[in-house]
Amino acid sequence: MRKKIVAGNWKMNCLLEEGQKLTSEIVNMIKDEPIKDVQVILNPPFVHLHGVKKLIAGVDNIYLGAQNCSDQNSGAYTGETSAAMLTSFGAEFVIIGHSERRAMFNESNELLTEKTKQALSNNLTPIFCCGEPLEIREAGTHEAYVTKQLTESLFGFSEEEVKKLVIAYEPIWAIGTGKTASSDQAQEMHSAIRQHLSSKYGKTVAERISILYGGSCKPDNAKEIFSKADVDGGLIGGASLKSRDFVDIAKSF
Ligand code: PGA
Repeated sequence: MRKKIVAGNWKMNCLLEEGQKLTSEIVNMIKDEPIKDVQVILNPPFVHLHGVKKLIAGVDNIYLGAQNCSDQNSGAYTGETSAAMLTSFGAEFVIIGHSERRAMFNESNELLTEKTKQALSNNLTPIFCCGEPLEIREAGTHEAYVTKQLTESLFGFSEEEVKKLVIAYEPIWAIGTGKTASSDQAQEMHSAIRQHLSSKYGKTVAERISILYGGSCKPDNAKEIFSKADVDGGLIGGASLKSRDFVDIAKSF
């Protein structure tokens, strides 16, 4: 059985008290309404990691993740944060290759390989993001586009390494736009991603990897999207900043 996962990507939101309030609300809701068999992951900005970790300590099924890590081990890289630091702060996951980082910070497929290596060698589970822009979707070449992202960043890894990944499929045209992919569009792409992984690593490995959907996922569409065979959960942006919405999404399986 693949793991079901709902991960909240706070992006660059929440001042100190807002982050603490959001986390406390989520923790209290999950204590009151336990969510079985779903891993709930909070991915706040780096400065919140320590505080969020303290608030989620001892609560079942809530995990800490970060939104990025450096491709380097340590040293003179002002402003960067290493994977080893994230682990030392209690993070267990890290988002790698979000489309905002690819677009605004010029993160290439090659750089994302290095970041994934750092994550894996520091016991972090990478949540590796892929997804196509609108013009590629309209041209009908989205499958080739996304599988190329995966080939170029991930296909140098061993079977043992790839097994540890979580993949997030996030069509860029659906991120923060209120325009979700239909559940059929999500299923079609998730299935193509799984087949692509299977072509390189075999069916057993591909069947183990959780593939999350991201892009305007909300409580009112999560159930339908999560009902699809190859959709194993969601990477949630906007709705992860509202405790009730986020917990409702996590309860949508
Ligand atoms: P959204 O963001 O849910 O606000 O569309 C998703 C993401 O960027 O991970």
